[in-house]
Amino acid sequence: MEWGMKNRLSRIIDPKSRRCLMLAVDHGYFQGPTTGLKNLGETVKPLLPYADALMITRGGLRNWIPAEIDKPVILRVSGGQSILKELSNEVVTTSIDDAIRINASAITCSVYIGSEYEKETIANLADLVNWGQDFGIPVLAVTAVGKEMVRDARYLGLACRICVETGAHMVKTYYCDGFEEVVEACGNVPVVIAGGKKIEERAALEMAHNAIKSGASGVDMGRNIFQSDNPVGMIKAARAIVHDNASVEEAFKIYKKK
Ligand code: 5RP
Repeated sequence: MEWGMKNRLSRIIDPKSRRCLMLAVDHGYFQGPTTGLKNLGETVKPLLPYADALMITRGGLRNWIPAEIDKPVILRVSGGQSILKELSNEVVTTSIDDAIRINASAITCSVYIGSEYEKETIANLADLVNWGQDFGIPVLAVTAVGKEMVRDARYLGLACRICVETGAHMVKTYYCDGFEEVVEACGNVPVVIAGGKKIEERAALEMAHNAIKSGASGVDMGRNIFQSDNPVGMIKAARAIVHDNASVEEAFKIYKKK
């Protein structure tokens, strides 16, 4: 792997443990002012010290995040749809020039396998990988799930493997039973899980714990952290699972601590 690519990746994923905790706050690009992100800057500030990387759009960064932060940015460079329309109708919205200007450590887009615009979203990922190869910037592929898709190991394994074969350097997907199969489908490419819709804290921590146990490299969590009644406790708890192999019980105690 080229030096720059390796260097950027190692800022996101610990090269020794291969683990990482990403904080996802890019929801506004199709969900608008999501609960918990209305003032994105205020939400992110107390959480950032505990995150290994921040997943965000360029507008999110420029409007709410001080340029002095020292965390690697995973820049969401796709969009073009909203929750009111077909979700898979996504295009690349941000140029590689702007990603470089922003000093992104990685770029990311979603891939909608089995959805109406499947081919276009795979082509978006291919464009990102080609740009990334040119400039040494790794790509995180997000396997977004269309409304009718069953989130099982067979489907998510298919979606993740397509991302890997297209050249993604990291894959983000959803947790499911038999997650080992999904991890296996990705070979050496690190897999992180999204948190998904807000669920009860213990259940979210259990999901993170199960994902790590099944071979995931970490989590790229959003709503289950910033929509929690104790967001700082929740990110610390998720961090303990990802980096310290904490049990669900230990992590839940960390979440509870105010
Ligand atoms: C949307 C995304 C979001 O960043 C991600 O889903 C957010 O994480 P969470 O589901 O944990 O709120 O990639 O496609």
